[in-house]
Amino acid sequence: MIILAACMVTSCNSAPDNVGAPTGQSAITRSDWGNIDGRPVYLYRLQNKNGTVVTITNFGGTITSFITADKHGNASSIIIGFDSLRDYLRHPPYFGAIIGRYGNRIGNGHFSLDGVTYRLAANNGKNHLHGGIKGFDKVVWDPTVPQDSIPSLLLKYISKDGEEGYPGNLTTTVQYTLTDEDALRIDYTASTDRATPVNLTNHSYFNLSGDVSNTILNESLSIDADYYTPVDSSLIPTGRIDPVRHTPFDFSVAKIIGRGIDSVKGGYDHNWVLNKKDSGLQKVAVLSDTASGRTLEVFTTQPGLQFYTGNFLDGQFNNRDGKPVKQHSALCLETQHFPDSPNKPNFPTTILRPGDLYHSVTVYKVLLK
Ligand code: GLA
Repeated sequence: MIILAACMVTSCNSAPDNVGAPTGQSAITRSDWGNIDGRPVYLYRLQNKNGTVVTITNFGGTITSFITADKHGNASSIIIGFDSLRDYLRHPPYFGAIIGRYGNRIGNGHFSLDGVTYRLAANNGKNHLHGGIKGFDKVVWDPTVPQDSIPSLLLKYISKDGEEGYPGNLTTTVQYTLTDEDALRIDYTASTDRATPVNLTNHSYFNLSGDVSNTILNESLSIDADYYTPVDSSLIPTGRIDPVRHTPFDFSVAKIIGRGIDSVKGGYDHNWVLNKKDSGLQKVAVLSDTASGRTLEVFTTQPGLQFYTGNFLDGQFNNRDGKPVKQHSALCLETQHFPDSPNKPNFPTTILRPGDLYHSVTVYKVLLK
């Protein structure tokens, strides 16, 4: 056991829920979770002094649970996930995973850069989705526990030149930190040896009630955005940047998600253009659930937010408690650059060039109200 200033790091083989630190103490512990291609997979358990717990595996950099108390003092996970690696190998739709090299869709699976056309895996009809067939959600990341007084996990992955059709060797790190303010901070960095598009995000599915049998349609959401990017029938942005005012996409003032969803074909699955004065870390969305008293605040440095109401969830996967994850059982708030930016010259660029450092930050903070 290594003991840090205020943070204890241990390694063990027992079930992660049996190895917590005493309440009032922050800690990070590690459990063996299996092997993939001869590489060890672990489950890390980050706990803060309030007893809030986040579990993360280095398979896909996946957040498997985010356990907080509700207003009655009952603890449950506000994100969907499983307790075994085997369940993740059944390829759920990106539950909790890191998404890369490019989050969301690239139209027709190709783009041109510096006069060269690149063909990517078409894994969503004719389009490329979430980095391709074996995206960053399906690889084993190299984990390190930084010597810090705050529980933190650093993951690294080197994506080879040509992987899923992308140019350049891309070195990516994702650092998760759980603060004593019940904020999960995610720092993403990337550098490359050839110009390439990069758009990293996390694909956690939230249900603030902690129980997927309650749909998220009763939760209320605000998004600090006056514009969004409309899409075609295959969910590729048309290239327009339209005002949300007088449309069901207006979340500039908090509203119950179910209120306007019926007038959006298929449900919400769109990118909001965040009202940001610069690339600093700003609060961009607030999700609330009255019954549990939980509120989730989302902060990001990114220009966009994909709000997805779990439209394709169909009950095929059960949450850790055995309950089926159905349509609208959970929602995603994916901080990002806009989908299909490599083919949309009017969208902010996603091209990373050699010598430049990609760095973005997103924070998911839970409060009780
Ligand atoms: C994203 C997309 C959705 C869907 C899900 C995964 O959120 O925007 O269209 O592909 O991922 O099922």
